[in-house]
Amino acid sequence: MDDARHTPVLVAPVLALLDPQPGDTVVDVTLGLGGHAFRLASAVGADGLLVGMDVDVRNLQIAEQHLSSASCSTVFLRENFARMGEVLAEAGVSGADIVLADLGVSSTQLDESIRGFSFQQDGPLDMRMDDRLERTAADLVNQLPESALADLIYQNGQEHRSRRIAKEIVRERKVSGIRTTGRLSEVVCRALRVNPASRRSKIHPATRVFQALRVAVNDEMGVLDAFLDQVPRVLKPGGRVGVISFHSLEDGRVKWDFRARQKAGVYEILTKRPVQADDEEKRSNPRSRSAKLRVARRTEGHMD
Ligand SMILES: C[S@@+](CC[C@H](N)C(=O)[O-])C[C@H]1O[C@@H](n2cnc3c(N)ncnc32)[C@H](O)[C@@H]1O
Repeated sequence: MDDARHTPVLVAPVLALLDPQPGDTVVDVTLGLGGHAFRLASAVGADGLLVGMDVDVRNLQIAEQHLSSASCSTVFLRENFARMGEVLAEAGVSGADIVLADLGVSSTQLDESIRGFSFQQDGPLDMRMDDRLERTAADLVNQLPESALADLIYQNGQEHRSRRIAKEIVRERKVSGIRTTGRLSEVVCRALRVNPASRRSKIHPATRVFQALRVAVNDEMGVLDAFLDQVPRVLKPGGRVGVISFHSLEDGRVKWDFRARQKAGVYEILTKRPVQADDEEKRSNPRSRSAKLRVARRTEGHMD
């Protein structure tokens, strides 16, 4: 069932650690194209239930089609995982054996230039995973005061040259608005005085700025915190949660959340260190290079 456009990352450790069993209820809050979900659905079998959530309507449609042959019951919801608890209650799902979040963008989102996530292809500066959101990356780039823009680039992108970049953006936008990914990428390269074609570093000079804007447009840290908060109430005792993250801002939050809840007796951490792709997976699927999986098990005790 693999969609050639999106190969799920870390499939073997996801299945080994989340350990789906026949009859389990699985909640995949980042359904994407359904790569992980399909494998989890196969393992839970006819008596199991898969709940798939995504904010991206196109991905949800593709996943739904792919999962139409799954043997288990399925429920598909166009929802933000920040509302996971409420949404599951509304859908009548009373507890989950497995919760999986595979954060970030899917390759369909990166590959479609019109979505504006990629500096590799020119497109409108959008970056909304959910097209119901009002604010695009272009709005932030063209409207934020210089100091707020610099802070956003520094905090969400961990880019220490943020002030120089924000200054150049503001200079440029006074001349003509910055409306496309290509234009923004040029402005960042000019601010950093690098020629992307002859650069030495493996990562594109605009990578961190694009990450920063995407995180802000989709409030990625806010929704991750809201999600992490709800997981213990959604998981049945003994249930497992897995989170795959792609940058240290996300991974740090997951690490500290799991640790704090382990200390409080709510979780047992099953991954002392985050699980990463082996060399073969990194070679065959470049997206897996920065993936980190952390898994925790909800303890048997009661929660307040
Ligand atoms: C990396 S992809 C998931 C890929 C999926 N595991 C697979 O195997 O095909 C991440 C997906 O999560 C969705 N997403 C990101 N943030 C979300 C949020 N806050 N709530 C719901 N879905 C979200 C994106 O739209 C994207 O489709």
